[in-house]
Amino acid sequence: ISLKSLNTFGFDQNARFFTVADSVDTLKSALTWAKESNVDVLILGGGSNMLLTKDFDGLVVKVELKGIQLIHEDENHLWVKVGAGEVWHDWVMYAIGKSWAGIENLSLIPGTVGASPMQNIGAYGVEIKEVFDSLDALNRSTLELETFDAEACQFGYRESVFKRRLKDQYVICSVTFRLDKSPAFHVDYGAIQDILKQNEAQQLSIKSVSDAVIEIRKSKLPDPNEIGNAGSFFKNPTIDKKQFEGLQADFPGIPGYLNETGVKVPAGWLIEQAGWKGRRIGEVGVHTHQALVLVNYGMGNGASVKALSEQIQQSVRQKFGIDLQPEVNFI
Ligand code: EPU
Repeated sequence: ISLKSLNTFGFDQNARFFTVADSVDTLKSALTWAKESNVDVLILGGGSNMLLTKDFDGLVVKVELKGIQLIHEDENHLWVKVGAGEVWHDWVMYAIGKSWAGIENLSLIPGTVGASPMQNIGAYGVEIKEVFDSLDALNRSTLELETFDAEACQFGYRESVFKRRLKDQYVICSVTFRLDKSPAFHVDYGAIQDILKQNEAQQLSIKSVSDAVIEIRKSKLPDPNEIGNAGSFFKNPTIDKKQFEGLQADFPGIPGYLNETGVKVPAGWLIEQAGWKGRRIGEVGVHTHQALVLVNYGMGNGASVKALSEQIQQSVRQKFGIDLQPEVNFI
């Protein structure tokens, strides 16, 4: 079957076999069938962080485990267990509707709840590891459910153990979040400040922060329903302080943010300075409003995006001596 409507780039690659898992039991049956038939498995959530470069000669399993369940609360916090197949943004809206705080900055991120811990999704000063309690994942070889706490997930910047040591070994079935009864606002990000200032009459609330985030995302990031894309294509690189100071001499405007290991430089800036912003090559290109986002204008394919991404890496390496690492998963 065609995977075109199942990946946000909208690439028309096929899967040899396809099934939907709406319960842990159907998931187990699918995995068992694949093992017995000696067929590879690709687990799919929202398809919003992957680049399909060819057909998949195996079984694609779309995870549709649903449900939102308040499992525990105390004076300050709520623990909510959410099915991996819930759409991330719908879950955020649900939480805001209940006045549960903590994920409002993560409004409008494409994808599913099950995919969110995989790469520790983050935006506008918040990462899910800050509201993460635990997750249940099915071990693909034993078919047993196992619980992972935050430490076991080894979260990093757009990283977790499920992208590294345990890659392709588990299927995340549910995620339990620890949300706040009274909000701790994260509104340092410049563009959020600007929007909140315009609406000064309005009181600061999780809803107003969410609205601001949605406004910013809509202005910068292409809607995958209109222009195919997978959000940021590369990670923002961290370089050492010496290298950053060297670059400052040649490029006085270079932005950089100190972190534990060095200086984080926005990849979007590097790509824009290397002349790529808004460039189109055939059916694919670099988004006009955000150079970190590669797009499919309709009839493109994954191989062309891959080729474009390599050209971008090469010119950023030449101009700045920095290696950009992809954030999306290549299939
Ligand atoms: N910039 C440019 N030109 C561009 C784009 C960005 O010069 O075309 C520079 C500007 O200096 C700007 C800075 O880059 O101030 C940062 O840009 P922006 O705030 O748009 O964020 P980003 O670093 O490009 C990251 C995340 C996004 C997240 C935003 C907001 C990564 C890889 N991406 O992007 O996450 O929404 O911050 O917090 O860390 C995603 O992961 O798919 C994603 C969209």
